[in-house]
Amino acid sequence: MKAMVTTLALLVSFSSVTFADTIAIIGTGQVAKALGPEFAAQGHDIVYGSRDPDSQNAKDIVAMTPGNATAQLPKDSVRDASIVVLAVPGELVEEIARGLGDLSGKIIIDPTNALEGDWETELSMGVSTSNGRIIQDAAPDAFVVKAFSTLNWRQMVEPGGDISILLAGDSEAAKAKVSELVSAMDLHPIDLGDIDNARWIEGMTILWLNNRISGRPHFEFHLRVVD
Ligand SMILES: NC(=O)c1ccc[n+]([C@@H]2O[C@H](COP(=O)([O-])OP(=O)(O)OC[C@H]3O[C@@H](n4cnc5c(N)ncnc54)[C@H](OP(=O)(O)O)[C@@H]3O)[C@@H](O)[C@H]2O)c1
Repeated sequence: MKAMVTTLALLVSFSSVTFADTIAIIGTGQVAKALGPEFAAQGHDIVYGSRDPDSQNAKDIVAMTPGNATAQLPKDSVRDASIVVLAVPGELVEEIARGLGDLSGKIIIDPTNALEGDWETELSMGVSTSNGRIIQDAAPDAFVVKAFSTLNWRQMVEPGGDISILLAGDSEAAKAKVSELVSAMDLHPIDLGDIDNARWIEGMTILWLNNRISGRPHFEFHLRVVD
């Protein structure tokens, strides 16, 4: 019975594109600056979660965001949010997710990559599972969706052609909601299964970055869906 009520609540809260969501974006860096204004332009209310919400950088990102965006401390920023974006350093996701308090029932969008190695020569994965799995374990009652990790922030704003956004997550309803956000940015969502598949998506970023580092052809991921 509890599972049925939870599923129904999830469907009701995630089902409509017509309602504005409050989206907390943790971080005020490049990905936050790309996704925040994009989601605000779709009519959502944006709250940035910053360690220093009074900084000039936080003021700048609020100013570049349509609507009534604000910046607050990370834990405060998630309080009224139905969606939380972790636009933070990949090696810190567990600590940052745990520091946000109770994330039960919220969708967490995870664009992060846990990279180790040398940006001049070769990168590799810095975790034995994936950041998506680590975040899901840190917030077991939230709905983590891996998304936006395999493209540069510039292409989030100006795709310049077809680009797939590879999704992984255990909740179909949460992936459907994130797909709406993605599609409205002229990007193409593609569902790659449950959250453990985040490992392979994060591996794709390693391929993508190492190709670039080594001087091999740079590319974007565009998967052609067939029947
Ligand atoms: N850059 C890209 O093109 C791109 C594309 C796809 C995915 N990604 C991934 O997305 C994530 C964010 O990337 P980004 O380029 O936006 O990173 P970034 O520019 O370095 O911004 C990270 C943000 O995290 C916040 N933060 C919280 N705790 C922090 C700490 N202890 N140290 C440093 N920053 C902290 C900071 O905001 P406050 O100072 O306001 O707290 C900072 O602005 C990374 O995992 C990256 O791998 C990046």
